[in-house]
Amino acid sequence: MTNNEVIDSRGAAFGLHLHIVADYAQVSRLAADIVTRIVRETPDAALTLPTGETPRGMYAELVRRIQAGELDFSAVQLFCLDEYFGKGIEDATSLTAWLNDVFLAPANLDRDNVHLMPSQAADPESAASAYERDIEHAGGLKLAVVGLGPNGHVGFNEPGSPRESRTRVIDLTDESRDQNAGYYDGDQAIPDKAMTMGIGTILDADLVVLIVSGSSKAEILKATLEGPITADVPGSFLRTVGERLIAIVDQDAAALLS
Ligand code: GLP
Repeated sequence: MTNNEVIDSRGAAFGLHLHIVADYAQVSRLAADIVTRIVRETPDAALTLPTGETPRGMYAELVRRIQAGELDFSAVQLFCLDEYFGKGIEDATSLTAWLNDVFLAPANLDRDNVHLMPSQAADPESAASAYERDIEHAGGLKLAVVGLGPNGHVGFNEPGSPRESRTRVIDLTDESRDQNAGYYDGDQAIPDKAMTMGIGTILDADLVVLIVSGSSKAEILKATLEGPITADVPGSFLRTVGERLIAIVDQDAAALLS
């Protein structure tokens, strides 16, 4: 654990919307329903959506709706949440290639509306600032959907990430690198750095949706929603936005919540 100040152990937790649903299928459907609602309200909304195992079902449902003509994503401005530093969409073992396979390609999204994380920029600092400005020019994020890493990371904001952090390059923990190796077949060397939207970038969204599934996440979900609000568990900062946070979790993940 890093030595970070505890901000609050209870207060800001009140007011968030916590939806405990039966299973993974319902997490996926409810998350897809929220994305659908936001896009119907604001067809050119700027959004960020996560990668990882958890959102697979949500993407499958969104792709189904888009292909059936029930949902029009053609004007949505999609900002990538995170990427390994030095990798990009052309690398089979990148998060953006994963997103492409699972969502961008089957949903036939216009590449001009997909804002890639500038993870290969020669000057990552100024590229990160430009990325933040692009989000602003798109009207700010209407919605940020995030998953929860086993160590409490959101995006790739590893433990120690401050609440006000913005898009930047970050060192990945060995735990996160091991977790991410599981996304790919074979022995993948996961880079030791990533570029991620910051906690502050995510929390500026009009609506933040946290999706969590499975008993392996029960302990970290409890720390996230009921423990101290601290950079040791970056996901705990989500609670600071009160009712702008919707947590959608299944019963297995919620098992330890009081
Ligand atoms: C990954 C990603 C996150 C993701 C989280 C949870 O490392 N960087 O964006 O939300 O960890 O992943 P999963 O859904 O596979 O458990």
